[in-house]
Amino acid sequence: MRGYSSYEAGGTPGTCLVIGASGRVGSRVVVRLVERGRPVRALVRPDSSIRRLAPVLSRVRLVAGDVRNPDALAEAVRGVHQVIWTAGISPLRPGRPEEIERVEVEGVRHLIEACKRESVAYITYLSCMYASQDARSALFRAKWRAEEAVRESGVSHSILRSSVIIHPGRRFYLQIPAIHWWEKAPGIPHALPSVRTSPIAVDDVASCLIDASLNPRVRGRTVEIGGPEALSPSDWIRLAGEERGKPFKEWAVPPSLAEAGLWLGSRLFPDRMPSREVFRDMVERDAVVDPETMKELFPNVSLTPVRELIRRMKEDADLPPG
Ligand SMILES: NC(=O)c1ccc[n+]([C@@H]2O[C@H](COP(=O)([O-])OP(=O)(O)OC[C@H]3O[C@@H](n4cnc5c(N)ncnc54)[C@H](OP(=O)(O)O)[C@@H]3O)[C@@H](O)[C@H]2O)c1
Repeated sequence: MRGYSSYEAGGTPGTCLVIGASGRVGSRVVVRLVERGRPVRALVRPDSSIRRLAPVLSRVRLVAGDVRNPDALAEAVRGVHQVIWTAGISPLRPGRPEEIERVEVEGVRHLIEACKRESVAYITYLSCMYASQDARSALFRAKWRAEEAVRESGVSHSILRSSVIIHPGRRFYLQIPAIHWWEKAPGIPHALPSVRTSPIAVDDVASCLIDASLNPRVRGRTVEIGGPEALSPSDWIRLAGEERGKPFKEWAVPPSLAEAGLWLGSRLFPDRMPSREVFRDMVERDAVVDPETMKELFPNVSLTPVRELIRRMKEDADLPPG
């Protein structure tokens, strides 16, 4: 083990509460904690689908609750050692600003109050690289205010701001078509021509979140996390084509046309499309992390190359259903 103690090395035991446990990141945090033998409490909404937790359900204590409800959070944190927050509203369907505020900001404030009352030792908060007080979108401004609440809480914490998170599965990644369309899809449209991201595998995000509370390099800090490669949409499309054995055609959509499409989509499907402000926040900056800095911050987390993620996605698709 390099540099510092870890759970495998007999580090801090105690119950970990995962908020957003039914989600793509939260469920992987739960599964990985259980695999390490940690007692886990999983906060899910009463109507959340818990299918992602199926492999570990018998070894997890589920708590039903909504982060908008301070009583639910007070109950959930009772007796826990540490909290990992992975809940949030999707940027693809951000919805109304009041609702964003209630979940993303007030929810975190309720959590902090509950943690203080219960003397919870550590909060690890998952944020995103677009969080900024100057963001155009209410969602990314809210993330920044939630970060501020955690920074000023007086509770020991780490804040991890992630680049794009890759969840191998049917939808995989925004630009890449679902795997079952691969043979048929002639090309891939994309609207973010020059923007680069450092896509990071969901399991690697889970590892960083679990690692953070025992990692002196990130304790008390706000750090950016990302995968080992910085890729533009064209790089993605090229890699995906190489992995399927036949290049995809690339159809670059001018950002102005994409914005018009989003505007139209938001009229047709209110609350179910990314807003123009979210889109602009994402096209106006790269979300790139220096891989060397990642290695220094998280020497115990080995990052999965994108090509490997694409291969895993193909292997999963080849498995018989069930
Ligand atoms: N995906 C990315 O590329 C990316 C990048 C950087 C940062 N992030 C951040 O990472 C976090 C997790 O991402 P993800 O991809 O795992 O999202 P996800 O799959 O949509 O999961 C979100 C989770 O939050 C829960 N949640 C939402 N509102 C809640 C509420 N009012 N009370 C309690 N739980 C609530 C959801 O519960 P239900 O199952 O009931 O809906 C779900 O478990 C988000 O905050 C996101 O902003 C994501």
